[in-house]
Amino acid sequence: MKKNLQIAIDGPAGAGKSTIAKAIARQLGFFYVDTGAMYRAIAYKALRLNIALTQEEEIAGMARQTEITLEHSTARRVFCDGLDVTEAIRSPEVSRSVSIIAAYPEVRERLVELQRQEAGQGGVVMDGRDIGTYVLPDADLKIFLTASSEERARRRWLELQRAGKELSLAEVQRDMDARDHYDQQRAVSPLIPAADAILLDTTGLQIEEIVDRILSLFNDKVEDKVETGYVRSQNQ
Ligand code: CDP
Repeated sequence: MKKNLQIAIDGPAGAGKSTIAKAIARQLGFFYVDTGAMYRAIAYKALRLNIALTQEEEIAGMARQTEITLEHSTARRVFCDGLDVTEAIRSPEVSRSVSIIAAYPEVRERLVELQRQEAGQGGVVMDGRDIGTYVLPDADLKIFLTASSEERARRRWLELQRAGKELSLAEVQRDMDARDHYDQQRAVSPLIPAADAILLDTTGLQIEEIVDRILSLFNDKVEDKVETGYVRSQNQ
């Protein structure tokens, strides 16, 4: 059986993954799957239930019993056990906690299962840390997005400002650097580019330029399938 077309976008915090992945998914008519939102939902639930983040077994058990739904409509709401957590999972508190629970193998196992189910629904653009290396190892295109640590922190700080969260730029950068370090050092599925990923440094680039570049790389990769109408027929 032919697999659905897949684009994997990995990279550190604030590299622009979600903005770019959404734009690409929109243009191709693919699903967008934000895997970070799933890890964030588990971290949020652990905080809400007052489960200490060090309680690996308890958190893994909770993750197994948690229902996470990512809406595919343009609103892209995120639901955790039926509760809309779209805004709540972006809080600085969740950002500071998420890498701890994301390092737990059983939490990852549960969420990867959900992620692969999502990829079974049709053409997909999925972003995260281990999509090209582990979740979708046969993805048609793998991109590893980076940008300087200063630019990534500035982008995230602006986003937080717009959402009314008053953190200093220095605080945002410190939190982000700590999270990246933790994600890179963990034993299971650390943040590293897949051997066959294309590295794109987005420092100083406009979103449209990056999106166009990725779309053109994708077209090159699946040229034969596009010519035979395979890409279009997948989305009908
Ligand atoms: O948006 P941002 O890049 O800041 O983070 P995110 O994509 O929402 O991911 C939040 C955290 O979830 C990451 O820092 C990782 O600890 C974890 N994560 C992961 O381990 N594996 C993934 N595939 C996606 C996220």
